[in-house]
Amino acid sequence: MSEIHAPAGIVIPTFVEIPFNSTSSSSSTSTTTSASKIITPASSSSSTIATPTSALAAATLSSKASSTTITTATASAIPTTNATAPTNPTAAVATTTTDKVATKANEKVKVLSLQDFDNPATRPRFLADMRESLIDLGTFYIKDHGITTEMTAGAMKSVQDYFALPLEEKKKMLICNSRHFRGYKLIGEEFTNNQVDHREQLQFGPEQSALPSFVPTQSPDYQGLQGPNQWPASTLELLPAFQPHIIEFMHQLETLSHRLMEAVALSLGQSAHYFRDLFGDTPYYRLKAAKYPSVKNTKAATIGCGAHKDTGFLTVLLQDMVGGLQGQIPATGEWMDTRPVPETFIVTMGEAMERMTGGLYQATVHRVLNNMSGQDRYSIPFFFDPSLDTRVPHQIENLDRSARLDFSNAQTRKELPKADGEKFCGLGITTQGNLSFPDASASSSRHATACVDDEEEGWSSGAHVFETVHRCHPEVYARWYTHEE
Ligand SMILES: [Fe+2]
Repeated sequence: MSEIHAPAGIVIPTFVEIPFNSTSSSSSTSTTTSASKIITPASSSSSTIATPTSALAAATLSSKASSTTITTATASAIPTTNATAPTNPTAAVATTTTDKVATKANEKVKVLSLQDFDNPATRPRFLADMRESLIDLGTFYIKDHGITTEMTAGAMKSVQDYFALPLEEKKKMLICNSRHFRGYKLIGEEFTNNQVDHREQLQFGPEQSALPSFVPTQSPDYQGLQGPNQWPASTLELLPAFQPHIIEFMHQLETLSHRLMEAVALSLGQSAHYFRDLFGDTPYYRLKAAKYPSVKNTKAATIGCGAHKDTGFLTVLLQDMVGGLQGQIPATGEWMDTRPVPETFIVTMGEAMERMTGGLYQATVHRVLNNMSGQDRYSIPFFFDPSLDTRVPHQIENLDRSARLDFSNAQTRKELPKADGEKFCGLGITTQGNLSFPDASASSSRHATACVDDEEEGWSSGAHVFETVHRCHPEVYARWYTHEE
């Protein structure tokens, strides 16, 4: 692969997800980069914190009416040093000086049942719990979600079988082969928060034909996102059910995501169809499968995935039972284990939602600890965004910022009103996120062309998504988007 040079002092912005410690960073800088021969300035000073490896044994479950609460307690008094060597080699996480170091990690993450959302009697409680979770933490677990255990187990098995293929097989699907940012990425090829992520990745999206009208350097770049996936065709004998299983899994996750966004809309005091109208009939989504190999020492890797926020609206994540995912409590900066809970997905908000709610709903900062468990860890996040041609309002109008709303008259699904083409108008930016959103006035930008007319019309979802994937995979951009074919 060719080298990509960044101007002095500037890191080529290349991340899917946002670095959390960016109060001093602008949209033109980032800390997640592709490792593929990118020349970057020296990383910022960093400190090292040691965290306990596992709080799983300390976790307890308690049930109540519409939600279950996971109480996760980890050891207190986590030492902090500025040394480069980890103080606890069994569980070290390098981070930056802007990290708020956890002295304890003890928080409640609700487990919500989607059946409670469908039941008129329990819906108000469900919505209240969802609102509270998204205001306080930006995350919750969802159970009774309608996706069978057979489907999730089959998806996991497919992913595990793929990653078990010989490297030469996997390299036939390198993401660089795809203009549409789909395919395989080797371990060590991506950075988050100035550290290399110790994981392999496999990325998919809606299975569609490429737009025949797309012309590199002339068409809006985001139109190049539409297209087919790469599949392990040459290894179908080894993975006979891989493609149909992954496609069906994405379809079911799309359905689940629509339902979750319907609930999110109601929890914000909006009409149930608010986001359905916004997202359109062809929402853009990305499914990422990741393998975090178990490592025996911290010299091999310092972290599975560095701390960051997701950039989009909604992330629905399936993880195995190994553990290692952590979320940061917004109010305190403390880290909490987002431990595996069987038959659930973890639901988190991305920065687009945080921005649209004026910061009311949190985009959770999260990371994956270095995997010292002795077994490989697999996770499958699903990122859900509007149709690429969508204009997104800067902020939801007339948003009630109360901690609690009265949901006693919340709509049920049967009462869902028909969409009436409601008009979205931007109200201006009141919160400054970490990622740049396409400038509504930058009508000359190829990213924004055809999506943004003026500041009142909001920002381009397609341009936003493209910026995200472009930052994560600059080698794909360099190959497919910088010259006409
Ligand atoms: Fe993430």
